[in-house]
Amino acid sequence: VKNAIVERRTKVLFFESISNPTLTVADIPELSKLAHDKGTMVVVDNTFSPMVLSPARLGADVVVHSISKFISGGADVIAGAVCGPASLLNSMMDLHQGALMLLGPTMNAKVAFELSERIPHLGLRMKEHCRRALEYATRMKKLGIRVVYPGLEDHPQHHLLKSMANKGYGFSGLLCVDMESEEKANRLMHHLQNSSQFGLIAVSLGYYETLMSCSGSSTSSELNSEEKALAGISPGLVRMSVGYTGTLEQKWSQFERAISRMEVDST
Ligand SMILES: Cc1ncc(COP(=O)(O)O)c(C=O)c1O
Repeated sequence: VKNAIVERRTKVLFFESISNPTLTVADIPELSKLAHDKGTMVVVDNTFSPMVLSPARLGADVVVHSISKFISGGADVIAGAVCGPASLLNSMMDLHQGALMLLGPTMNAKVAFELSERIPHLGLRMKEHCRRALEYATRMKKLGIRVVYPGLEDHPQHHLLKSMANKGYGFSGLLCVDMESEEKANRLMHHLQNSSQFGLIAVSLGYYETLMSCSGSSTSSELNSEEKALAGISPGLVRMSVGYTGTLEQKWSQFERAISRMEVDST
């Protein structure tokens, strides 16, 4: 990154706080320092970790969110947020030059009000998304499933995330399991949705139900196989956005039921 930023020419360093779908955690203080040393502005997409991470406190200049995900929580709103200094936001709203003014992505006031009513329980929801994700990741690992979850000690950036995270929320509501092939990934998702109602096959995230997608053949399908390999997206990678309906134990028994059905099918 240091070599890629060219002093006085690179205007913005843009990255996700936790990457989609590989769940790599960015070192926000370190990347911010590298960028600022060369006069570059830092923009962080914090869609995967509202409440869990506060990139602005860790050095970012601007934080963006897809509100359609955890913040809305209902997969029913298409919206986004740009959080940054007043000077930047005012320039975006400039009558003659501002992108918000010229392109028109101004939120309907009723939608804005409705979203403001969901913010007070965002913390509670994130806590439960994260609590269940950690518990499932731990149990899946015990079953011998290959799991990627930044809350697990064996995740390469677990300690980094711990050092940056706001206390008490956990370590993200998303986890990935690597089923090795797209066929196995699809079979797992089929049973989790249709044999046991553990979750739904959908490419969104941050919903109250668990949502699952095979990233390589859905949200990252525009990449060719070489690019996917470079990005660490294996063909059997299943991204799960962990929901919080029912009790944790009810949901876990649905997961186990789907795994047993899958095993029966393959014998
Ligand atoms: C990390 C991240 N940022 C931004 C977006 C874009 O969100 P929207 O579709 O609300 O524009 C997505 C969508 O999946 C996402 O996962």
